[in-house]
Amino acid sequence: NVNVSRSPLTIRLCGPRGFCAGVDRAIQIVVLALKGYGAPVYVRHEIVHNRYVVEGLEAKGAVFVEELDEIPEEHRAQPVVFSAHGVPKSVPADASARNLFYLDATCPLVSKVHKQAMRHQRLGRHVVLIGHAGHPEVIGTMGQLPEGTVSLIETIEDAQAYQPADPDNLGYVTQTTLSVDDTVGVIAKLRERFPNLNDPSADSICYATTNRQEAVKQAAPGCDLFLIVGAPNSSNSKRLVEVALKAGAKQSLLVQRASEIDWDALGPIRSVGLSAGASAPEVIVNEIIEAFKARYDTTVELAEFSIENEHFLVNRELRSIELTHE
Ligand code: F3S
Repeated sequence: NVNVSRSPLTIRLCGPRGFCAGVDRAIQIVVLALKGYGAPVYVRHEIVHNRYVVEGLEAKGAVFVEELDEIPEEHRAQPVVFSAHGVPKSVPADASARNLFYLDATCPLVSKVHKQAMRHQRLGRHVVLIGHAGHPEVIGTMGQLPEGTVSLIETIEDAQAYQPADPDNLGYVTQTTLSVDDTVGVIAKLRERFPNLNDPSADSICYATTNRQEAVKQAAPGCDLFLIVGAPNSSNSKRLVEVALKAGAKQSLLVQRASEIDWDALGPIRSVGLSAGASAPEVIVNEIIEAFKARYDTTVELAEFSIENEHFLVNRELRSIELTHE
């Protein structure tokens, strides 16, 4: 297939794309912990939903576990890091009970959603969480409050069917990585049925989700193909595929590496949108651009929606350890 085409192709490279400040911070926390305390550093759950990142940290001495009881007795003095998605309150409590030294890499914007949920509850409201069942962030947010005090709504249909005990005393929050447009619909449906529904005091969908979706939305019309670099379990990456299709891309695919692209199946393409989820590293974006350059006469144009300059500080314990870039 390499010799069929040196046909012209334009890549619309979205900006912002890839790592958000929360992912960047979570990776830094693991790297700094390894530097300051030595290997192994345990990480509960994939630190961010990306194999490439996880394998890179494993090579440096990070050990990924699903639950704290997998940490061997003799390594209990080593740090354990909680992932960027956040954890139920029971997890740090369990870590303390086991005498573990933990570093929480929960994104500050996820922690903000936790606080909003707790605020609703403090004000006597039943909490409605809009999000995707089973996602670690949803498990973490629900786990901030006692069992049974948070109702999960995934779709407009769920919002239509929901039967709260006290319809006048509801407050909602959302997962940080939802589709901005779909969420508007779910909230509108809830508000139509429960006019006294209380908003959180700040938006739950984060800046990174909003900006990546908006950039894709603007670049998508007329694209023959839209590629999103991201993992199948990455919520924000999957939403970018949906946004691209809705905004007019003829096809859209989630890819983890350039090697996953089935070139023969792409058909005739001349314009390709390209973006990356918040957990996808830039090296893979470059790898994909190179793969196109090897097959097409490729021009890359930047489709920049906004410039981000968010930066989140790492945990206090780690601030004196110097980060060296390798
Ligand atoms: Fe945080 Fe949003 Fe990234 S919640 S981890 S900044 S996608």
